[in-house]
Amino acid sequence: MTYTVTPWEVKGNIDYDKLVHEFGVSKVDEPLLKRMEGHAKKKGLTLHHFLRRNIFFAHRDLKFVLDEYDKGNPFFLYTGRAPSGHTHLGHLVPWLFTKWLQDVYGAELWFQFPDEEKFLFKENLTLEDTQKYTTENMLDVIALGFDQKKTKFLIDTKHATQMYPEALKVAKRITFSTAKAAFGFTNEQNIGAIFYTAMQAVPAFLPSVYHKKALPCLIPHAIDQDPHFRVSRDVIPKLGYPKPASIQCRFLPGLGGISTDGKMSSSQEHTTIYTTDDAATVKKKINKYAFSGGKDTLEEHRKHGGNPEIDVAYQWLTFFEEDDRKLQKLYHDYKSGSLLSGELKAVLIEKLNAFLSEHQKRREKAKSAIDKFIWQP
Ligand code: TRP
Repeated sequence: MTYTVTPWEVKGNIDYDKLVHEFGVSKVDEPLLKRMEGHAKKKGLTLHHFLRRNIFFAHRDLKFVLDEYDKGNPFFLYTGRAPSGHTHLGHLVPWLFTKWLQDVYGAELWFQFPDEEKFLFKENLTLEDTQKYTTENMLDVIALGFDQKKTKFLIDTKHATQMYPEALKVAKRITFSTAKAAFGFTNEQNIGAIFYTAMQAVPAFLPSVYHKKALPCLIPHAIDQDPHFRVSRDVIPKLGYPKPASIQCRFLPGLGGISTDGKMSSSQEHTTIYTTDDAATVKKKINKYAFSGGKDTLEEHRKHGGNPEIDVAYQWLTFFEEDDRKLQKLYHDYKSGSLLSGELKAVLIEKLNAFLSEHQKRREKAKSAIDKFIWQP
């Protein structure tokens, strides 16, 4: 079975073990989990379920930033979102985790909105479109509860005065052949797209520039972004800044299921749930489109049970049901056949709608807070 994972295209049934090998990243292992659990405990928190469940499963140099933290040299966080449409549930996965990291490590967060990225990479998006979605997407980030005093939004076209000189220093050290090898570019690629990775590198060291101090950086992101940082990790130390570390997650599959919909995507509207979907829409989409691991007839299901590994409702609950015991019970009840596919979907619908109704309220409130989050250099 084949799959593709690049920063601009994810498709097929992703073999994450193989990907770790291909990308040359490391798995998050038990000793690292133990350390993060210890750090969380000190703040009265528990190890995030994305870590307990191997959803954030890979990293580069995580040990380095944790060592620095333990030595009293805290790291900052950097993540981002290239606006191209409304925010969906898949986008929230790295952001929810970033919020937990900010709470545990008290870290400053630099959140990039590269409003040129999807303009350059997608045929049908104008700069006006991506700028409109920048504002939309910011509301979802703010709604997750980031600490306003410690969080700075960077918008590429708006902060060009500060970012462009730094991007130039990166760009000068990346050849076209390196970019081709990392991103699979051909000669037909527009030259803006070729330059773009230099802009995505900048927030990994810009805080060091502004704080006038070499600060360690940790980048939480979905694994498709790794090629960017593979390239910039070679360059950034040459500019005199620490090599940025990263921690990487799997994708939330689309409703169509892991074998066809490895990553939720806005181009597949009906298998995607947006943060602005109302309760009735969520219910309808899940009931109608969520790929079921249940058996064809009630009789067979009761007898043989369902398959949680391929069932989208169950898979999504591994992302959104924090309680391990509840999740385990659903797993066993479904597998044994006592819980039906429709019943499992109902559990998911209730969980998501409770989350979304709160999120939507906070999202409304966020409208008046945007200006406080945008970086004022
Ligand atoms: N390229 C990312 C996207 O397509 C946006 C992004 C910019 C990003 N900087 C990042 C993502 C840092 C993760 C980490 O949405």
